[in-house]
Amino acid sequence: MTEHLIEVPPLSAKAQAIADKGRWGLSSDRQTGALLRTLAASKPGGRILEIGAGVGVGSGWLLAGMDSAARLTTLELFPGLAKACASVLAADGRAEVVHTDAVDWLTAYAGPPFDLVFVDTTILKFERRDLVFAHLADGALFVADDLLPQEKWTEAHYPRVERFREEIMAEPDLVPTLVDWASGLVIASHRKSERPGP
Ligand SMILES: C[S@@+](CC[C@H](N)C(=O)[O-])C[C@H]1O[C@@H](n2cnc3c(N)ncnc32)[C@H](O)[C@@H]1O
Repeated sequence: MTEHLIEVPPLSAKAQAIADKGRWGLSSDRQTGALLRTLAASKPGGRILEIGAGVGVGSGWLLAGMDSAARLTTLELFPGLAKACASVLAADGRAEVVHTDAVDWLTAYAGPPFDLVFVDTTILKFERRDLVFAHLADGALFVADDLLPQEKWTEAHYPRVERFREEIMAEPDLVPTLVDWASGLVIASHRKSERPGP
């Protein structure tokens, strides 16, 4: 195990303390956090999007990898969580916390495409991935976790994840790798498939 070698960034530690106090257990684990930090560092000046902010643990890891020109937008449905996350991230001017339903937000979004998207909500991961794909820059990274069985899963969730794994590997505009490590991840590069010419 390498967890003891991974130093938690201050903002993630602050967010985790809030999560622990409120007994909120959905934050990203330390291995996933370290991976997010590494991937964010590969996008200097990048536009980073996190879908499902929670209290900001994952955001803290992303910010720790980002350079000074990169920007993070993180979306959260529940007002109490969005408020807690905003209070944690207020110290970092590169971060914006948006209290919104990510489905509505992505549907209305007309800004520039994103260079890295961490999808951490059920609906955008399993049902409305099209809304995320529509806003990926060429070469962007698409990341999702929680793809390995967990005790809390319902019976109905197992086939949903299996379908996700099959579908994501068959996406024509993605170059994906399934990583059976930590909570189970997919990391995919967005590459417009080259259609045959006339
Ligand atoms: C797994 S937790 C996020 C953990 C966080 N990304 C981290 O790394 O610590 C999923 C979050 O998505 C939020 N969420 C669920 N549905 C959503 C939606 N439609 N739009 C925005 N946020 C949503 C939940 O309230 C919850 O806080």
